[in-house]
Amino acid sequence: MFESLIARPPDAIIALMELAKADKNPNKIDLGVGVYKTDDGATPIMRAVKQAEGLYLTEETTKSYVSTVGNSDFRTHMLDLIFGDNFAPLNENRIASAQATGGSGALRIGAELIKSSGKDPVVWVPTPTWANHEPLIGSVGLTIKSYPYYNRETLGVDFEDMLEHLKANATAGDVVVFHGCCHNPTGADLAPAEWDRAAEFMRDHELIPFIDLAYFGLGDGLEHDTYGLRKIGVTCPELILAASCSKNFALYKERVGLVAAITSTADQAKVVQGQLGALQRRLTSMPPDHGAALVARILGDAKLRAVWLEELTEMRDRIKQLRKDLSDALRVQGAEAMADAIIDQNGMFSTLPLSVEQVKRLRAEHSVYMTKSGRINIAGANSSNIPRLAAAILDVL
Ligand code: LMR
Repeated sequence: MFESLIARPPDAIIALMELAKADKNPNKIDLGVGVYKTDDGATPIMRAVKQAEGLYLTEETTKSYVSTVGNSDFRTHMLDLIFGDNFAPLNENRIASAQATGGSGALRIGAELIKSSGKDPVVWVPTPTWANHEPLIGSVGLTIKSYPYYNRETLGVDFEDMLEHLKANATAGDVVVFHGCCHNPTGADLAPAEWDRAAEFMRDHELIPFIDLAYFGLGDGLEHDTYGLRKIGVTCPELILAASCSKNFALYKERVGLVAAITSTADQAKVVQGQLGALQRRLTSMPPDHGAALVARILGDAKLRAVWLEELTEMRDRIKQLRKDLSDALRVQGAEAMADAIIDQNGMFSTLPLSVEQVKRLRAEHSVYMTKSGRINIAGANSSNIPRLAAAILDVL
């Protein structure tokens, strides 16, 4: 049977991670995979997570199954964290949710939910988008199409083009994927006023929002980073959310995520709740417990929550400082637009206006690693290598 299989190239982001790891140059700069790093290049376990782990180790009494939709405290706390107080769909019991195996697991279950509706809508993703969106969402057999999003000339969002394109090409019932904040790979987000318009646009054209919220808390703060999601959630009757705890809790390998759906009635939420459990059962039976138990513990305990919020703020502030330092170092004649964009963009990523050739030269001549689209993970830089990084970028430009 296996003779019919064809060799597949490794995933580009994962391959880049391996390439950077294998580079023996002590001065290498790895701006590849979206993992937060401290100034000395480590990705530590957060203090709040370590404390919660200590508690869980002594308190955990069984390894028996939890449930197909996962830890219910985790789901409740996450929904409160993401949607805040007084979120109408939450108060009206119009939200169904399930713990998922990372943000990717949440995207996959979300895609399965769309497919299960039997409506076969087109799923629209921004150009560019996270490289794994299409494989993940498309793997359930949905048609994926692209809408314009990032303008590589202005280094900002082409908001009017995006609405025009969707207006002309999407039909009622189609699904539109948004990055809730910290757009991956560009860091270019919608401004609050644009989210307001996008929400009305989605409602008026009867489009279904599918929001990927992978980096919330690492942009401009929890409130700011969930503004668009909340706005769309109270404006449109339905919404699908895929949230991740990989980045903001640094729980990458534990695979912690949440899939949620806002429905137009409480009765529909009950049906969707059952569907989420059934979908998960069909895929992996149940999500892993450990990471979600830690998040539930942290969010449910005032002291641990305060520790976590403090650490999240430290991470966010460091990313902002790195943005400022890189921007300053790149601010030479001819590169001002790039320097401005790096400051304006949000979260771990920016996409630099570099060609594939220039990205290859950065790797070969300077041991600087980024995806071939020019995406950099700004958290991979540090206070001592920023001058060298800026010089390398300016050199290939
Ligand atoms: C990234 O975009 O680098 C991260 O989301 C990690 C991944 O799995 O691709």
